[in-house]
Amino acid sequence: MSAGSFLWKGVAVPFREGESVAAALMRAGIRNLGRDGAGAGLRYFCGIGACQNCVVSVGGSVVEACLTPACEGMAVEAVEMAHG
Ligand code: FES
Repeated sequence: MSAGSFLWKGVAVPFREGESVAAALMRAGIRNLGRDGAGAGLRYFCGIGACQNCVVSVGGSVVEACLTPACEGMAVEAVEMAHG
């Protein structure tokens, strides 16, 4: 049962009570979370905040999606890092 929804690039994504942003995105079938500085795809990987592979932007701050609790109405955006 959904506890609410947040926006991923402007599209509503439902989440369950206590779910992280990464878990809700995975359940919605969203695997590509952006691009890192080398142009590689960002994605959910370790799930414990260690790999930094799931970073997204929430309210202008870069956060780990796997450690960020999903909240009603929050706006989550992909982080497209500059390629060097
Ligand atoms: S999946 Fe590794 S930091 Fe989030």
